Amino acid sequence: MQLDDVVPWGRTLGEYRQMFNLSEADLQCRILGCGDGPASFNAEMAALGRSVVSIDPVYQFSTEQIRQRVQAVYNPIIAQVKQNADRYCWKNYVDADDLGRSRLAAMERFLLDYEAGKATGRYQPQALPQLDWGDRSFDLALVSHLLFLYADHRSLEFHLASVRELLRVAAEVRIFPLLKLDGTPSSYVEPVIQDLLSRGATVQVEPVPYEFQRGGNQMLRVYSGPIADFSGVPGC
Ligand SMILES: C[S@@+](CC[C@H](N)C(=O)[O-])C[C@H]1O[C@@H](n2cnc3c(N)ncnc32)[C@H](O)[C@@H]1O
Repeated sequence: MQLDDVVPWGRTLGEYRQMFNLSEADLQCRILGCGDGPASFNAEMAALGRSVVSIDPVYQFSTEQIRQRVQAVYNPIIAQVKQNADRYCWKNYVDADDLGRSRLAAMERFLLDYEAGKATGRYQPQALPQLDWGDRSFDLALVSHLLFLYADHRSLEFHLASVRELLRVAAEVRIFPLLKLDGTPSSYVEPVIQDLLSRGATVQVEPVPYEFQRGGNQMLRVYSGPIADFSGVPGC
């Protein structure tokens, strides 16, 4: 991965809670954050004494390299948000600059935690569709703003292989959003659901309280087996 290919943009624990309908019981689980990038989710969870491992290919780079990349992409991203402001819900932010300040604060929180978290294995440079963990290493895997969102840049095969791999290493997988970058529904959602059903998984499309892309208020929740047999979350 080249750092110039990465558009680092990070969200907070509060946003993860809303995007994934995370309950207090969920937060006690062994959680894998997949493609967490510069989100402050892991840093905030660690400060609360909770267990999250984040993987992202960007974690091969240093704090200073990621900080410089955040600064390089910031103005172009905010300009794009301003240009397409009607595609977004502004209930939580006054405007694009307000959104930008919130994202920068989250990313700075990540950057301050990054070296310490890397040293203890909380940030690991791995990438879908292949993960270096044994089966069921986690209770819950969360994927925010990676799968489906970049459907125009990643193949259906990548999506199928990634979700199968996530379901191998975690008992439950939640993916948000189900829209592409342009705000339209990803055509990969249905084939991914059909593939999972054919493998005996339980799949639900579920409404969530988070909505920034207009209409982007649903997540995909997947359990590795029939719901009656499910022994992962809750009670992990
Ligand atoms: C838009 S950011 C989302 C960051 C974070 N999840 C959030 O919602 O705030 C997408 C992240 O996916 C990461 N990524 C790209 N390809 C990946 C792959 N194959 N496996 C895991 N992460 C990947 C990028 O490096 C980037 O940090």
